[in-house]
Amino acid sequence: MHVLLIGSGGREHAIALALRNSPKLTRLTCAPGNAGIATVADLVAIDPADHAAVIAFCKAEGVDFVVIGPEAPLVAGLVDDLAAAGIKAFGPRKEPARLEGSKAFTKELCTEAGIPTAAYGRFDDVEAARAYVLGRGAPVVVKADGLAAGKGVVVASSVEEALDAIDACFSGAFGAAGAEVVIEDCLVGEEASFFAISDGIDVLPLAAAQDHKRVGDGDTGPNTGGMGAYSPTPVVDEAMELRIMDEIVVPTVRCLARRGTPFVGVLFAGLMIEADGPKLIEYNVRFGDPETEVLLPRLKSDLLELMLRSAEGRLSGHTTNFDERTALTVVMAANGYPGPYSKGSRIEGLDEATALPDISVFHAGTAAKDGGIVSNGGRVLAITALGDSVSEAQTKAYEAVDRIRWPDGFCRRDIGWRAVAREKAAM
Ligand code: AMP
Ligand code: GLY
Repeated sequence: MHVLLIGSGGREHAIALALRNSPKLTRLTCAPGNAGIATVADLVAIDPADHAAVIAFCKAEGVDFVVIGPEAPLVAGLVDDLAAAGIKAFGPRKEPARLEGSKAFTKELCTEAGIPTAAYGRFDDVEAARAYVLGRGAPVVVKADGLAAGKGVVVASSVEEALDAIDACFSGAFGAAGAEVVIEDCLVGEEASFFAISDGIDVLPLAAAQDHKRVGDGDTGPNTGGMGAYSPTPVVDEAMELRIMDEIVVPTVRCLARRGTPFVGVLFAGLMIEADGPKLIEYNVRFGDPETEVLLPRLKSDLLELMLRSAEGRLSGHTTNFDERTALTVVMAANGYPGPYSKGSRIEGLDEATALPDISVFHAGTAAKDGGIVSNGGRVLAITALGDSVSEAQTKAYEAVDRIRWPDGFCRRDIGWRAVAREKAAM
């Protein structure tokens, strides 16, 4: 089977490596890919936003199945256009992808399906939004409705900060994404990410992970795409997983099926685990990055088989198998990220890091140059280790990070700190 993988991040490198393990795979192509993916797939320079070009490539090269990594092509309806051209793909169509594309869409679905989430209001008018915040008080969360690359959310500790965020949204700080604003009560607890896979009717739990969104140690500084993650996570034990499935994931899949817009693909629930149970913060309609770099090294089942079953409506009765050990990943980013950064600096020591036991080195923003590897983005590498505890996985991951010589990059030194502190307290 010839698979075309869309994307260029650490997530897609992890997906590419997992797909390579499938006996069903005969050829793997990635558009546009990166220097790590180039070692396991053919790269093709197609812009995924150009759906006609993707379809033409699939027809010319006999692509049997398209796997879409990032959200933008899903929200733009690439799966619908491929289906219309008779090409099978993994991921949701445009309408159910609105779960990620529109916060207001998700909040309304929560109301319809009785899914626990923060109380909210939605506004397309600045004065009404300001009045709501004045009535509600702080802390309060202000969100641009549309896709804003994770930057459209302000958790405001004061009313003034919330009013400033509202003004920023309506003055066009997030472009069209901010034409409508969602204002939510602030949830209190520990955040976790939960992943499940659906074929539109049936839904299988995959695993939980915990991301580290802030750029600095101790969860300080601005939000990023994610600076590190680990899986599984102690806040989501078996009982909590059952509640997340029963109270949040299954009702979502049923609701979308009832509406005639079934959800096919990976459903990624961003959750707050509050004292009385799980609350939905947001949905993503794809694998997470860097969460995939800890989920897939634990997956023992055939990923291609799983994705095909999802796309073909054959998940019923299927099960998945995960390594019991903990995987922990540390993201290495270019100095300056998430602000402005430069590209093109040389990275050494990747082979030494990769050679260590239980280590995977995933490339994100990298490019090949003069026989070596150079940085080519904000998040550049994700270094994953497997260990018998979070503490052990953390130690091994940083041993590998320390083999990498890249003066223009940095990483957090405390990935997994919550779980490590729990393990220390239990000793
Ligand atoms: P989102 O883009 O919706 O995931 O929001 C980004 C981050 O803002 C989340 O990962 C949370 O840390 C925080 N956040 C969003 N909504 C809430 C909420 N209602 N209560 C507390 N924190 C929130
Ligand atoms: N790590 C968060 C995301 O993939 O959106």
